[in-house]
Amino acid sequence: MDSAPRTPVTAVIVVAAGSGQRLGYGMPKAKVPLGGDSILTHALRGVAAAGIARQICVAIPPGDPELHALCQAFTQDLQAERRRAGHAGDGGQLPVVTIVDGGATRAESVRAALAALLPATEAVLVHDAARALTPEAVFHRVSQALAAGALAVIPVMPVVDTVKTVEPTTGGGAAIAPELVTGTAARETLRAVQTPQGFELATLRRAHDAAASFDAGQAAAVTDDAMLVELLGVPVYAVRGASQSLKITTPLDLIIAEGLLEGPLGARWVEG
Ligand code: C5P
Repeated sequence: MDSAPRTPVTAVIVVAAGSGQRLGYGMPKAKVPLGGDSILTHALRGVAAAGIARQICVAIPPGDPELHALCQAFTQDLQAERRRAGHAGDGGQLPVVTIVDGGATRAESVRAALAALLPATEAVLVHDAARALTPEAVFHRVSQALAAGALAVIPVMPVVDTVKTVEPTTGGGAAIAPELVTGTAARETLRAVQTPQGFELATLRRAHDAAASFDAGQAAAVTDDAMLVELLGVPVYAVRGASQSLKITTPLDLIIAEGLLEGPLGARWVEG
């Protein structure tokens, strides 16, 4: 008897509606070139290669014709690849690609995508387009944890730096330095959090419904989906992420990503 858990019908939301100001390219980050393609194209290819998505739902900046065209080109490439592989009649296995207008915050972009998921969807992975080089193995680890019964699961990495809390200096201290250390976190219990973050769909919908009524301050403090689920009191599990899943945020990150694709490390470094 096969005791492997059944894989839930899964959608992957790719959030790509950010401005990318910190990258300094003067264009939405999703469009920024990386290894001859755009960051978004790399991200979408990674999702498709993982082979877990019945639907890929992409949130792009509202009214951006170039990113819209880029998503359509990706869909056509998928179809052409499938035909080349001789599976022309197997259209059911090809993920449906849906494009939605993102919102003013990441959470609003996720909510717009949640509203566009196919009715049969049971589980959802939310992925930052900015983590364009995430290995397939990370998608699989997240997906397997969901199949095994997790309602929420995130990929994480150990923290290598010592992490301290600080507050702005006041009084005489302000003439010495801008901040004063208030404590040191226990590094062995800390994890840096990546995407894709996986959820049972009803759980993530409940978390985002609750967050929709946050005030501006609360909304600004939301940096990932798992924290909204934590607020519901639902256990969030953690699986191993990967260094290649770095979030391309600064010019240095882009140099590292280019190096991963093309540099001397590219050919020999394949971390699972
Ligand atoms: O800016 P931040 O680092 O939080 O962005 C993480 C991801 O969320 C990026 O892929 C970005 O495109 C996406 N995002 C979005 N809609 C926003 C802001 C960010 O889809 N309004």
